[in-house]
Formats: sequence, C-alpha cells, structure tokens
Amino acid sequence: MVATAPLEIPSIEPSARVREFIQSPRQLLINGQWQDAASGKTFAVYNPATGEPIAQVAEGDAEDINRAVAAARKVFDDPSHAWNTMTPSERGRLIWKIGDLVLEHADELAELESLDNGKPKGVAAAADVPLTADLFHYMAGWVTKIEGNTIPISVPYAPGAKFHAYTVREPVGVVGQIIPWNFPLLMAAWKLGPALAAGNCVVLKPAEQTPLTALRLGEIIQEAGMPDGVVNIVPGFGETAGAALAAHDDVDKVAFTGSTEVGKMIVQAAAGNLKKVTLELGGKSPNIIFKDNTDLEATIAGAASAIFFNHGQCCCAGSRLYVEKDIFDDVVKGVSAAAEAIKLGPGLAADTEMGPLVSDEQLDRVTGYMNAGQESGATCVTGGTRRGEQGYFVSPTVITDTRDDMSIVREEIFGPVVVADPFDDLEEIIDRSNDSAYGLAAGIWTSDIAKAHRVAARLRAGTVWVNTYNIFDAALPFGGYKQSGWGREMGREVIDLYTETKAVCVGL
Ligand code: NAI
Ligand code: MG
Repeated sequence: MVATAPLEIPSIEPSARVREFIQSPRQLLINGQWQDAASGKTFAVYNPATGEPIAQVAEGDAEDINRAVAAARKVFDDPSHAWNTMTPSERGRLIWKIGDLVLEHADELAELESLDNGKPKGVAAAADVPLTADLFHYMAGWVTKIEGNTIPISVPYAPGAKFHAYTVREPVGVVGQIIPWNFPLLMAAWKLGPALAAGNCVVLKPAEQTPLTALRLGEIIQEAGMPDGVVNIVPGFGETAGAALAAHDDVDKVAFTGSTEVGKMIVQAAAGNLKKVTLELGGKSPNIIFKDNTDLEATIAGAASAIFFNHGQCCCAGSRLYVEKDIFDDVVKGVSAAAEAIKLGPGLAADTEMGPLVSDEQLDRVTGYMNAGQESGATCVTGGTRRGEQGYFVSPTVITDTRDDMSIVREEIFGPVVVADPFDDLEEIIDRSNDSAYGLAAGIWTSDIAKAHRVAARLRAGTVWVNTYNIFDAALPFGGYKQSGWGREMGREVIDLYTETKAVCVGL
C-alpha cells in the first residue's frame, strides 16, 4: 500500500453565484430546452478536494442521446433553418460572441471549474478560461475563410470538352463529441468551436466527473443567440450515453478525447455506419534535457512544470524525463525540490498550487502506479504517497532507477509522477524516446539550435516543444502520432476534419 502523509484541507464555501448554479439539479440541453433525463435519473458530482457530493446532474442515456441527435439532425437537414441560412459573417459573429461571454463570466467559470475538477482557481483563470475564449474567437475567424479550389481538369476520354470544376467544403453533419475531465471547459471549446465554425450541429457529452462548466457554457451559448437544436449537451456516463452517441446511425462524425482504450471502442462503435472519427488519446511523452543547455535553472523549472502542471492530468505531460548523464543528478535534485515546494490544497484556496486528482478512481490508479514502481525496485526520490485522508490528493513524485520495461515507464499514469533516467548517446535517446505506443508530444532542452531541429525531426510525436513545454494556442494544431490519436485539434487542420470536400464538375 502507498503510505499516506498528512495534509490539512481548509474547507472553503463557493461564492453565492456558484452555489446558486449547483443548488438544484442541472438538466440536459436538447433542442434549446433544459430538461430532465428521459429516465428521470440524476447522478452526483463530487468536490475532489473533499470527496463530498456538490451537485446533482440529469443522467443522460440512450433515449436522451436519441432525442438530442434527432434535434441536431432536424436542424442540419432543414436548408431553411436559421442555422443554415446564416451568412458566414453572421455565424462568425455568433461564435465570436460566445468567446466574449466566456470572458465576461470568466471568474465564475474559473471558480466552477476549480470546484468541479479540483484544479487551482488561479490556474483555471489564467489558462483554461482565456484559452476557451480565445478558441472561440480564433474559430470565429475561420467561418469566412472555409474555401474550396477551382481545379483545371484534363479528362483524356473527353477530347475538346470544356469543364468548370471546383471544390466546396461543407459541414460533415451531426457531430457527436465526447470529452474528458482534465480540462472540462477547454475540451468543450476545442470540440464545439471548430464544429460550429464549419456549420455542423452537435451533441456534446461531457465527462461524468466534471459536467458543470459544459452545462454553464450551454447557457452562455444560448445567451449568445445560438438557434435551438444546434448545440445539444447530454451529460451521462461513458458506457451508456457515450456509447450510444458513438454508435448512433444518425451521427456523421464522432470526435473523442480520452483514454486510448476507449478510443479503440469508439472506432468499433463507429464502424456501424462508418461515421468519421477523430481521436485525441493518451501519451507518455519524453522530455529530453541535453547537458549543453546554458540555463539549467529555467530548464529544471520547465521540466517540473511539464509533469506537474494540472497535477500531471495532461495527455501531453512530460512524464518520461531523460537527462544527459553529467547533469542527471542536478536535474533530479532540482525537479524534486520543485516537487516538494508545491503547495497542495483545495482548488478554491488562494495559495493552492496543486489541487487533488479528479476522482477516487484516478486516486486509485495513480497510487497503484506509485506502488507498482516501488515494488518493481525503482527509487522514489520524493513523493510516492497519498496526502491526507480526505479528498484525492497525492504528492508530486519523482522516480529514478527504472527500467524501460516497467509499467511506470510504458503506461500513462495521468498524475504528478515523473520517471527520470540518464542517457549519454544521442541515437540511443532518440530510439528510447520513440519506443512507445504513444506519440503525442515531446520536449527538447538544448542551446544547440541545429541539434534541436535535428532531434525534433526524428521524434515521432504530434507536438515537439523546444526549451519550453505545455504551450497551447488555438492556431497551433495538436494531436497524436501512433496510438495517441487520429486527426488534429485546433489550427486550420481541425477545420478540414469538420468538413467534407465536395467536387462539382460543370460541363460547359
Ligand atoms: P475515459 O476514456 O473512460 O473517459 C473519457 C470520456 O469518454 C468520458 O466522457 C467518458 O464518459 C467517455 N467514455 C467512457 N467509456 C466510453 C464508451 N464505452 N463509449 C463512449 N464514451 C465513453 O477515461 P477515464 O476513465 O476518465 O480515465 C482513464 C484514463 O484515461 C486516465 O487515467 C488517462 O490515462 C486517460 N485519459 C486521457 C485523457 C486525454 O486527455 N487524452 C483524458 C482523460 C483520461
Ligand atoms: Mg473510463
């Protein structure tokens, strides 16, 4: 068993505004109407800092998914519906307004996110909420720029004939979106922003652990003036509501973020009607520090933040730290000191730097890996314990003396746990970095520019950060090689994935 080190958790009351939002059961949003689940059931949402229930939310299931998909389908298939007659400029302004309203309600959204997910409110206010607003603002700009081409064609079997051929990009249709709990509001934005920019209709299923900010965002989207039925939000469990959405025959595309295991189930569920699939899945990202780098202090801070940001609950967390031999001890010492200095507490406490993990399930999972590491003979330099008896807190953890075949080195832990190992050969470290089923992200720390680019080119990962880590932007595509996923979020790439190309050929 993993040991438990003491931790005092101050109890903090949410603001009156947030209390009002959570005091009565939150409903589903279908066809512009907030409503109970067809079954009448609700499920509890917990404060991860205390393990206490804080809200009840309508529990969507297959019947609710049917209703939501039918509402979205009806809008999409009606060419005279307000959503389909809107000009691109009007649609862009509507999406822009969602971004503006997110900023207007920034403090409330940050508080709600902190309460539901456990992350520090200050982090939600500095990262999650402004990134959410910026995503809508960025995608609003795309609406007027989704263009096709005119294409000169030759047609060998039609000598002398003239044609006017062009492509247009049309929305895919009704999109089912299934998102996780690590950045609940931001993941909703990553999914909704491009889908709406491209003119799709959506059924969004938030994670059962953290449905609150997506439901609040639903109200904001209505306030922005979204026509009824374009955005439907059905909270519920993965095995019921999520599975029904992924398998639904009237859904044209499913976009999923979560575990690689469930990603594979989504692919199978999608096979029924061969709906389009995009997946943003797990990672076990290498973070490589070369001894030539001239600012070791900044590098150590960067390596610590690469794993400890968001409590390590990031698909791209820099969870495999590879350090060139000569500086290995210094880096391990520095990252461990950074780990020990992190102030743990409830997300709503002003001085909290790291909150609890999101759920008891994740607490079991992460402490399970801490056990596995210790049992397999690795050395826990710092951390390795649960913290306190209440809530789902764990110590930021640094582990050394690992072997590449250990589960803590190969599998995604999704907690504040880094494995650190020395290297002394460039080719060896490139091979070891790539020796993973995943390929989401990688970090390189070096002062040798040519080496940085050479190594970046060799790493099989969708994002490579050089002398920085965890930099996200609405304009920068994000997604995985190998089993880290299919397709990309954000940037211009994501617009392609929410559109179909139609070729039109006119005989002249
Ligand atoms: P999960 O993959 O089970 O859940 C993610 C989403 O998928 C949730 O909305 C869930 O309700 C839904 N879901 C679950 N089963 C489904 C099914 N059969 N059909 C359709 N939808 C389904 O992830 P979970 O259990 O929350 O976390 C387990 C592990 O997954 C974590 O420890 C972490 O390693 C990884 N994970 C990766 C994330 C990422 O950002 N890539 C995010 C969350 C978890
Ligand atoms: Mg699961």
